[in-house]
Amino acid sequence: MAGIVLVGAQWGDEGKGKITDLIADDMDYVVRFQGGNNAGHTVIHGGRTLKLHLIPSGIMYPHITPVIGNGCVIDPKVLLEEIDSLEADGLSTHRLLISCNAHLIMPYHRDLDGASERRLGELEIGTTRRGIGPAYQDKASRMGLRVQDLTDEHIFRKKLEAALPEKNDMLEKIYGLPTYTVDQIAEEYLRYAERIRPHIAETYSVINRALRADQWVLFEGAQGTLLDLDHGTYPFVTSSSPTAGGACTGAGVGPKTIDRVLGIAKAYITRVGSGPFPTELHDEIGELLTRIGGEYGTTTGRRRRCGWYDGIIVRYAVQVNGLTDLAITKLDVLSAVDTIKVCVAYEYDGKRYNDLPCHQTAFHHAKPIYEELPGWKTDITHCRTFEELPTEAREYIAFIEDLAEVPVAMIAVGPSREQTIMRRWEGRM
Ligand code: GDP
Ligand code: IMO
Ligand code: MG
Repeated sequence: MAGIVLVGAQWGDEGKGKITDLIADDMDYVVRFQGGNNAGHTVIHGGRTLKLHLIPSGIMYPHITPVIGNGCVIDPKVLLEEIDSLEADGLSTHRLLISCNAHLIMPYHRDLDGASERRLGELEIGTTRRGIGPAYQDKASRMGLRVQDLTDEHIFRKKLEAALPEKNDMLEKIYGLPTYTVDQIAEEYLRYAERIRPHIAETYSVINRALRADQWVLFEGAQGTLLDLDHGTYPFVTSSSPTAGGACTGAGVGPKTIDRVLGIAKAYITRVGSGPFPTELHDEIGELLTRIGGEYGTTTGRRRRCGWYDGIIVRYAVQVNGLTDLAITKLDVLSAVDTIKVCVAYEYDGKRYNDLPCHQTAFHHAKPIYEELPGWKTDITHCRTFEELPTEAREYIAFIEDLAEVPVAMIAVGPSREQTIMRRWEGRM
């Protein structure tokens, strides 16, 4: 095995950072392939808690080369702040590689993200307002500036001169916001360039060489399947491809280099931001999950909406990602609940749906059909083998497995690295 893709199987915040950290010992490279600092991955490592936004979760392992791939969008200011904060924590970042083809988040992207959300009012997407959408918009419309442009002042200014007038028009005429000058942005970004330059690399080549040499590469997804621009709950999605296919385009590797696709799902489900959410709980159980699960956004601090595990969504994630395994996280949070519900189908307009409905109206109004399972009502955070789990917890996992039709390879029973049950992870010999 050499290429492993790790993706969120729900709406993000599934515990991708924790699982990446868990299998990091086996890896030589950890590669981010999409998204930017909209991500917030929590890793509890050696007694300290790291919240990573842009830098891959393998950064604390000296044997790992962390890579930010071409499919990512990079806010250089945030990147340098994250580097500084890790260095201040005693973690070396000198190994970090950044693709020359990754796109830059510019100051006007951040402004436009916030302004367009304000303008949408009640219809807002609830973005992280980090400029992610506008940066990907410019990438698609071929107006973006890339990391490599930081290394050539002439090119950087020329591209900015081409892009800026339209941005300034939008800022000023549509949103009534202050504008920028080329000098102002160039002065700031070219200052960042000095520090970023040593990290810039042709990352596709580094990764492909590693894969050919049978080294282990983990492609660490950000966000989740239901936030995917193509496969998610459009328009309430992010602007990149967090599904497994995104690893190929976003890192520059072929599909045959991927040996295993690990999907991460919580034992319930959460969502930050707007958009449909069939199993959302508006009652005291929703409150309980928020409180016990500590469900507040790592990036924006917003309260995450909580709901019962949605078997339709995870089965969909199994298909669109080609998941080979699932990791179920936060099983311990369900210890607080008497009876657990799992969504096995939807009902809309008198019709039963066993898969995600094609039309968004049906999904928006879908009423979940639940199966009820008994809770275990006992602390499971100390369990380290499947057999140690109470019968009800084992039955819950078996039920999820049957619905998803892929094996549950790992079960997390607490936030720290040790609080995990490994069922099916051969690792590296
Ligand atoms: P990511 O974006 O997918 O990496 O997930 P986040 O880090 O945003 O959110 C997951 C949160 O759950 C973090 O605070 C983790 O420390 C925590 N966490 C992960 N696994 C478990 C678990 O099994 N049990 C509990 N109680 N917390 C967990
Ligand atoms: P991690 O990697 C959860 C959500 C935002 C919003 C939508 C679009 O920690 O799982 P964007 O700023 O990307 O244009 O916002 O996507 N979102 C996330 N939700 N976890 C994330 O990342 C997210 N990144 C973006 O809340 O609904
Ligand atoms: Mg997160």
